[in-house]
Amino acid sequence: MQYRSFGPTDRQVSIIGMGTWYIDEGDRDTAIAALQAGLDLGMNHIDTAEMYGDAELVIGEAIRERRDGAFLVSKVLPHNASRQGTRKACERSLRRLGTDRLDCYLLHWRGPFPLEETIAGFQDLERDGKILSWGVSNFDAGDLEEAYGIAGPAAEDIACDQVLYHLEQRAIEHAVLPWCVRHGLAVTAYSPFGHGDFPGPETRGGQVLVEIAEAHNATPRQVALAFLTRHPAVFAIPKASNPQHTAENAGAGDLVLSDEEIALIDHAFPRGPRPRTLPTL
Ligand SMILES: NC(=O)c1ccc[n+]([C@@H]2O[C@H](COP(=O)([O-])OP(=O)(O)OC[C@H]3O[C@@H](n4cnc5c(N)ncnc54)[C@H](OP(=O)(O)O)[C@@H]3O)[C@@H](O)[C@H]2O)c1
Repeated sequence: MQYRSFGPTDRQVSIIGMGTWYIDEGDRDTAIAALQAGLDLGMNHIDTAEMYGDAELVIGEAIRERRDGAFLVSKVLPHNASRQGTRKACERSLRRLGTDRLDCYLLHWRGPFPLEETIAGFQDLERDGKILSWGVSNFDAGDLEEAYGIAGPAAEDIACDQVLYHLEQRAIEHAVLPWCVRHGLAVTAYSPFGHGDFPGPETRGGQVLVEIAEAHNATPRQVALAFLTRHPAVFAIPKASNPQHTAENAGAGDLVLSDEEIALIDHAFPRGPRPRTLPTL
């Protein structure tokens, strides 16, 4: 597994991590086993949110004996993200996760409260040691610019922007990724398998993935994850609810594609023009 500094933090985070949206909907013991298998295989990045039902409780069980081995990220819902609401939401998440701190806390998307309030809430939590860093999600370059202006001297602490990024949705490459690179933020790719809509081998693009995978004794999904994390600022967080899927995803953490293979994938899944608004799920 490859590790990288997560934005401006000094934390080494696995380039492939674990998403947890809907992880509470299947068999609970299998989901816990999947998360623990991922940690065993070096995937230390666990992503969750107060929005994800009981996912925080499932994670809490999975990390009970091994909290220090995880880089734990959760998110506040926009309608809770006032200064006080952010604090309360974080405290609820900490209780559900059974921990005293989050490694990173994100605003899930922009909502009704002024960013000033949410950022003040993050800074309060950081001062109290309840979060070790903070960031945003679903922010376009203009939103990032605004957040940067509001955060003042602490702007350089903004850890990441978590955004939709998969082979068939590469909009972030136009403005968000370059902005994050310029300002030293990590970019976390959510729904890296298209939220369950992964290109099958019957498609032209899927066939390209199969051919590259065969050359590496890998799988098409591993090739897709290696492509998405080819850029040194990017981390991917596929969600898997069983240990077999987790193991396959972790395997992508050691796969390095050649320039020629990257060009083939780039051609098969073109970036397309920049959309007017940043696509989200
Ligand atoms: N910030 C945001 O607004 C936002 C939005 C969406 C998602 N997210 C985060 O990003 C994470 C990932 O995105 P996502 O859950 O939307 O979708 P995803 O990771 O793109 O796809 C998940 C789907 O892929 C399947 N899968 C995973 N590994 C597999 C494998 N090796 N072989 C076959 N199938 C596999 C899963 O099946 P199984 O469950 O059966 O393993 C599930 O059906 C979320 O869980 C969440 O943490 C954030």
